Amino acid sequence: MQVFVTGASGFIGAAVVTQLLDAGHHVVALARSPQSAERLTAQRADVHPGDLDDPDSLRAAAKAADGVIHLAFQHGEPYDQAAGADRRAIAAIGDVLAGSGRPFVVTSGTLLLAPGRVGTEADPPDPASPGAARAGAEQTALALADRGVRVSVVRLAPSVHDQVRRGFVGALIDTAERTGISAYVGDGSQRWPTVHRQDAARLFRLAMDSAPAGSVLHAVGEDGVRLRAIAEFIGGRLGIPVRSVPADQAEAHFGRLSSVVGTDAPASSIATRRLLGWQPSGPGLLDDLAHGRFFTEAQR
Ligand SMILES: NC(=O)c1ccc[n+]([C@@H]2O[C@H](COP(=O)([O-])OP(=O)(O)OC[C@H]3O[C@@H](n4cnc5c(N)ncnc54)[C@H](OP(=O)(O)O)[C@@H]3O)[C@@H](O)[C@H]2O)c1
Repeated sequence: MQVFVTGASGFIGAAVVTQLLDAGHHVVALARSPQSAERLTAQRADVHPGDLDDPDSLRAAAKAADGVIHLAFQHGEPYDQAAGADRRAIAAIGDVLAGSGRPFVVTSGTLLLAPGRVGTEADPPDPASPGAARAGAEQTALALADRGVRVSVVRLAPSVHDQVRRGFVGALIDTAERTGISAYVGDGSQRWPTVHRQDAARLFRLAMDSAPAGSVLHAVGEDGVRLRAIAEFIGGRLGIPVRSVPADQAEAHFGRLSSVVGTDAPASSIATRRLLGWQPSGPGLLDDLAHGRFFTEAQR
């Protein structure tokens, strides 16, 4: 199959491209810069120049593809703005795929579920959750099931990890280094779902190959690792104090991370495993922290 992938040059996208190529698919990847195009070519993907903000570029590639995986997200922009661009990109691709029965796998996150309880695939987005801005993208995607698209949504755990300093835990390490304290909020009992990058990539490939229209899938390997356990590990490795920060001082300490760091957001993937036979097999987050390159100069 020819698969159009957006965000293929990113942390998770690169692993998805490898999965697709290894399974015998042909990958056409969106690239918004010559640097990204070079990385993608080195990965043996064909490059489609374009941008999330250029719907015509998305439509043209989607039209020529047998399936689409959408991972690109404007992480440097204000969250609401990036979420709006995401929703518009999904709508543009969906218009082209409508009536074709072709697969369309869209990225979301478990952070849009109600905090304080184990979120499942059947749970709808919660307007008060830290990830609520992405609810519109999910709704736009899932509505395509009624328009003849084999659409599925993959909600990623907020900690997608591998042996490099990236994502949520990478930002926690950066904060610990900057402040000289490895902090947690309150009693640190907040639970953080995690998934290994390779397991997440395999789920995207499985979704493209066989998820029924309208599926909501959870890329969750561990339902919830406690924030305090993560902070203790980081403090131990950096040789700095591990301390609690009261909730009302979390913003001053963690900055942009504060709204998510203090949230208890566990999630499960039982239904996903049953539906697609997906079985996460990568190391857990604390294992990756113990054996990876999170703490080496090269990762800063
Ligand atoms: N990493 C995590 O822990 C995590 C957790 C939950 C959800 N997610 C979600 O998973 C998806 C992939 O995340 P990631 O960690 O792989 O992100 P990433 O490493 O930051 O990669 C983002 C990708 O989006 C592309 N992109 C950004 N703005 C674009 C634009 N205007 N036009 C076209 N492409 C654009 C980037 O292209 P360039 O190479 O040109 O920059 C890159 O390929 C995102 O939706 C993210 O929010 C990630």
